Amino acid sequence: MRMRLDFEPKGDALGRYYTDPAVGQVFISLFDRCQASSILDLGSGAGSLTFAAARRWIDARIQTVDVDLGAEEHIRIGMASYGHLYHNHLVADVLDENLPEIFGGKRFDLAVCNPPYTRIKWREGFSRILAEAGMEGLRTLSPWTLSSDIMFIAQILRLAEPGAEVGVIVPDGLISAKRHRAVRQALLERVRVMRVVQLPRRSFRGTEAQAHVIVFRNERGRGESIEISNLDTDGVSYPISVAKDDACIRMDYGYHRSTKGHLRNAFSLRSIGAEIIRGSLSSAEARQCYEPVFHTSSFNQPSAFDYRLDGSSLTPDRPGRRIAQSGDILLARVDRELQKKICVVRQGQAVLTDCIYRIRVPANWRDSVIRGLLSDAGQAALVGAARGVGARMLSKEDLLDLEIVTP
Ligand SMILES: C[S@@+](CC[C@H](N)C(=O)[O-])C[C@H]1O[C@@H](n2cnc3c(N)ncnc32)[C@H](O)[C@@H]1O
Repeated sequence: MRMRLDFEPKGDALGRYYTDPAVGQVFISLFDRCQASSILDLGSGAGSLTFAAARRWIDARIQTVDVDLGAEEHIRIGMASYGHLYHNHLVADVLDENLPEIFGGKRFDLAVCNPPYTRIKWREGFSRILAEAGMEGLRTLSPWTLSSDIMFIAQILRLAEPGAEVGVIVPDGLISAKRHRAVRQALLERVRVMRVVQLPRRSFRGTEAQAHVIVFRNERGRGESIEISNLDTDGVSYPISVAKDDACIRMDYGYHRSTKGHLRNAFSLRSIGAEIIRGSLSSAEARQCYEPVFHTSSFNQPSAFDYRLDGSSLTPDRPGRRIAQSGDILLARVDRELQKKICVVRQGQAVLTDCIYRIRVPANWRDSVIRGLLSDAGQAALVGAARGVGARMLSKEDLLDLEIVTP
């Protein structure tokens, strides 16, 4: 849905540069969580990120906050037209130190955010915000370094449940500038950063600013490396794995790509921690099932990257019933041409038959997996690994160890 954004000024003090809806959709696909019950969007603007979140986590309660009165009507109308029932919008200053009290102590299990990137004057309440966010060390930052995006992240941390998954669109300076090294260090110590994705320059309306998505969990990391990728016209690139100490120096894809030289983009599903599960419905059960079913005959939509399934609000997996949902990769387990039957679910749900594998990979690997499997080399590898004459069959172990090369 395109909305009239006639209240969107240029270069204004609130940093109202709205995310392109297509980028909002990629942003949401970078989260690992299949389920979310309460989502927070601070600085929601006209709702690009919220609308994409509402499409992926259809049952979640969504709380949006923006100080701009003009944005309120747009987001309310947008959410109502999506039919998302559980939405609440608050017109408020996100930098208010009492924000947690305003929400009555409520915490969120997922947060999306594209904050304003503006310089702000130090306020008395900021010390408390940073301390309660677990980033008190940043109180000593020079006023030149402290910007609204950092304070928005601190507020998210005060409102996020332990373990909550958080995605924030941050400016290039925070990711790569030397003067922000202390902020990167504080963040990498306070949270578990899982991935950073460099965005194309035209990701926002009204600016060419370079920005990145950073996805983290509200828990302390244990020194895990960080996966850094790039978003281009082919999707999210093969990630580079960067050690935490190197990520303190810089977290941008362009820099790490150049320092690592030429990478051979080969991996296996086992090596990236994929979970592969076989569907369970027999053909007789599938015929009697009153809910949407996904079978090998369901690979019939135009784009493998964008499958929409008919189900919604299906109960989660249980023995004898496996559910496909947004973010899952589906592949035929048994078929004459199983190598051609592969897709990513963008929206909706379905019950899987026993001829289908459901593959779950970390969010930033999804595009590499599907592009790799659909490439000539990937197709040849799948044909080579499948067994049998006529209807061919692929074993889970062979699939886990298949060498996938991203084109
Ligand atoms: C970069 S825009 C992002 C809007 C939207 N999330 C998107 O991605 O399109 C930043 C938003 O933050 C809002 N904002 C700026 N300062 C704020 C503050 N102190 N409190 C609440 N919202 C604020 C602006 O009104 C604007 O809608």
